[in-house]
Amino acid sequence: MVVPVYGKNKRVAEEKITEGLVLTVAKAGKRIFVEYLSSSNSNPSTIIFQKDDDGKIYAWHQCPAEKSGYQKSCWHLGLAMVVFGINDSVIEAELISPPDQYTVQEDISQDFLGKPGEFVLLKLKPEEEITPVEIVPESSYPNGDEFLSRYRFPKTLLEKVFSFREQQKQRLTPEQISRIPSNVNYIPQGNEVTYATVSLLYDTWAPPLLMGPKGSGKSTMVEALAEILYLPICRVSGGIDVNADYLLGTKTLEPVESAPKQLIAKIALSCAKSGEPLLPEEIEQISGGQAIMKVVHEPGILLQAVTAGEIILIDEINVLIPEVTSILHTLLDWQRTITVPGLGEVKAHPDFRLVAAMNVGYMGTRPLNNAFRDRFRGIQVQGISRNTLLELLQQKVESKTAVKLADIYESLYDSVYSPTGATLTESCISLRSLLRAAEEISMGIASPKDIIISCLTESIESESERTQVKDLVEMRL
Ligand SMILES: Nc1ncnc2c1ncn2[C@@H]1O[C@H](COP(=O)(O)OP(=O)(O)OP(=O)(O)O)[C@@H](O)[C@H]1O
Ligand SMILES: [Mg+2]
Repeated sequence: MVVPVYGKNKRVAEEKITEGLVLTVAKAGKRIFVEYLSSSNSNPSTIIFQKDDDGKIYAWHQCPAEKSGYQKSCWHLGLAMVVFGINDSVIEAELISPPDQYTVQEDISQDFLGKPGEFVLLKLKPEEEITPVEIVPESSYPNGDEFLSRYRFPKTLLEKVFSFREQQKQRLTPEQISRIPSNVNYIPQGNEVTYATVSLLYDTWAPPLLMGPKGSGKSTMVEALAEILYLPICRVSGGIDVNADYLLGTKTLEPVESAPKQLIAKIALSCAKSGEPLLPEEIEQISGGQAIMKVVHEPGILLQAVTAGEIILIDEINVLIPEVTSILHTLLDWQRTITVPGLGEVKAHPDFRLVAAMNVGYMGTRPLNNAFRDRFRGIQVQGISRNTLLELLQQKVESKTAVKLADIYESLYDSVYSPTGATLTESCISLRSLLRAAEEISMGIASPKDIIISCLTESIESESERTQVKDLVEMRL
């Protein structure tokens, strides 16, 4: 997106520098990084600028002004005029995506702020060779692929994604296309989406295993991966009812094409009467020895994904039964085959992909066996950052309430995960409940206070913990 930056944005930026809200100005190659606070009590953010030889300006930036189509001014972008010493009344900047790197080589804060940089988010590593990710302007993305810019993929990966998506667009049926997730609202927390996409697209086929605490965004990220690759998604959640039959399928009887309709109706009637499928000899008796039924294999969810070239999410992979992990073993090595009873070896479609996810770090989860674990590319999905949380909340409620909800979540988080003295168990914190509260507040069904207390406490089973959480929430409201 190309947006205008006005002289008045520059003037506000200069005022903010005087007020001390700009913390650091630093360089890495052609890029200039600025670390700033939006208001005196906010967390720092980073914006990156680059001016090409032909004068074109790029900005890696994410800002609430985007929602208003940049009708409201954005002083952060005004910093471009400050750092490049531009005095025009208006210039244009192409917004690339949120910042994609935080390591810089040179502190140039003295030139702009009159003091050395503070380096809260940015890291100064002069000795390290930095190869900045090459720019692919959004304007050159294929039609419909623009949403990919939020993932900040490096150029080589992005090109591979474009070509994989194009391949899928050519081959998938309308029914399959209807199962591809769209508009997935996953906000990357670091490089996790890049790592997972690389592991799905490059030939060293080791599927991603997303590991993170409850509510850390694993399932949402898998939806995002399916949207990125343009693949229909199938979902399996580990447990004792996930067995070989469920994954691979079972044999059933089906009428042959030439079978007379009356005989089929007679058989269906006998089945309905007995309440059970008929035995082959009973069918033979009704049909008088005529071949009217054949045995067919009704594919299970995994076999279907494997043969139709779709993406499958195996959630809670650490609670799969051994029968199932052994099926996955051969699928996950170079052979990429599964053995289906009655059908023999089935080779996976070249576009078939698998992603696994598991919760870590709380009761009831068990570690994966090493040989199995080794077949995956492990990826840590961190708990949500404050900035992302605020962004998600602000999509539903006004800023003040969003900040309050984020504060409550942070206090709960500390009480549950503090390494020195956790006072609450994990059942007391739920990002989903917090987002639900924001949703209900936006619907205006009760007072925000009542909604927050109800959403955050009522599903906690232990009465004493429920009271503790209620106290904590009330204190923050
Ligand atoms: N990075 C993120 N970007 C956008 N939404 C997020 C992010 N992280 C978490 N969420 C939101 O938090 C909620 C929980 O996320 P999700 O269901 O993906 O977590 P999960 O890790 O799969 O949890 P569980 O282990 O309980 O299955 C969802 O509403 C999701 O949209
Ligand atoms: Mg999940």
